[in-house]
Amino acid sequence: MLDARLVPDSAFAGLPLPHLYARVSGHVPAFEWPAIAADVAAIERLKRERNAVILGHNYQAPEVFNTVADIVGDSLALAREAVKVDADVIVLAGVHFMAETAKLLSPDKTVLIPDAEAGCSLAESITPADIRLLRQRYPGVPVVTYVNTSAAVKAESDYCCTSGNAVKVVRHVAREWGVDRILMLPDEYLAQNVQREVPEIELIAWKGHCEVHERFTPQDIRDLRESHPGVVVLAHPECPPEVVAEADFAGSTAAMADYVDAERPGRVVLITECSMADNVSVAHPEIEFVRPCNLCPHMRRITLPKIRTALETMSRAVEIDPAVADRARAAVERMLAIR
Ligand code: 13P
Ligand code: SF4
Repeated sequence: MLDARLVPDSAFAGLPLPHLYARVSGHVPAFEWPAIAADVAAIERLKRERNAVILGHNYQAPEVFNTVADIVGDSLALAREAVKVDADVIVLAGVHFMAETAKLLSPDKTVLIPDAEAGCSLAESITPADIRLLRQRYPGVPVVTYVNTSAAVKAESDYCCTSGNAVKVVRHVAREWGVDRILMLPDEYLAQNVQREVPEIELIAWKGHCEVHERFTPQDIRDLRESHPGVVVLAHPECPPEVVAEADFAGSTAAMADYVDAERPGRVVLITECSMADNVSVAHPEIEFVRPCNLCPHMRRITLPKIRTALETMSRAVEIDPAVADRARAAVERMLAIR
């Protein structure tokens, strides 16, 4: 298979949509491309007909991320874009909590999730009843929940945060509320990683974990450094703190991409979901990406045929129980107001 990053678009002139194939040829064999290109062309037509925009998370498969996604980014960027985007329809190429967040912030738009089963182990790990019990146990302690939660859980929370702004949010809450204890839910490892940055605040955590990031170990990082001398290690803060301690940098998916753009390390490994390296590497042919691979099965549920069907049938439209929507929106908006 040719590597698009080393080959000009003209090398693919015999194929449909050669400029797009140039972006994914490292991942998609040429014989598969005509069928994929037919879906891409149909989705582009449907986007125009429906006045739709596709928001794509950084973990989307390369053939989604590099072709039909209009705006890509981390959870925080996608939430911010959901407020601003000028369209009647948003298709969220990501997981369900991201689509719910978009719907909370753009209640008048139709928000479609191409596969309603695209969940998240963190979102599954906590219920609204758990938060109500924690509030009884820790009266007066504010609740900051990770955006990787259901709208019903967000409705029980004071603030949301993402991996991109967690430190800023807990510092803000401690200052505004005049407290030195915060419930930070449900990602235990994110809370522990943030705790290192804010020793002055006690973060009370929950036992939720990301099924993708919890599988990385400190030994994995040591082995990578030995087998790939000089490799720069970037890790997502959903990884266990012992893993983050072995890394050179930790940050959200967008922060990792920004690090690569700014620092241009010769050799790098992203300790996170594997599509991330596939997508970031497209713009960086000069960088060697070492690729240990942990796939998120939920992100992988989103495919081009499902996006096409979603736009054809206008399903699955995300609906949020009005009894929780206003309170959930308030928690997300309080987060977005922090700059
Ligand atoms: P980011 O907000 O860093 O994109 O992370 C979202 C996510 O689900 C990571 O597993
Ligand atoms: Fe959830 Fe982890 Fe998948 Fe992100 S990578 S959507 S946190 S299961």
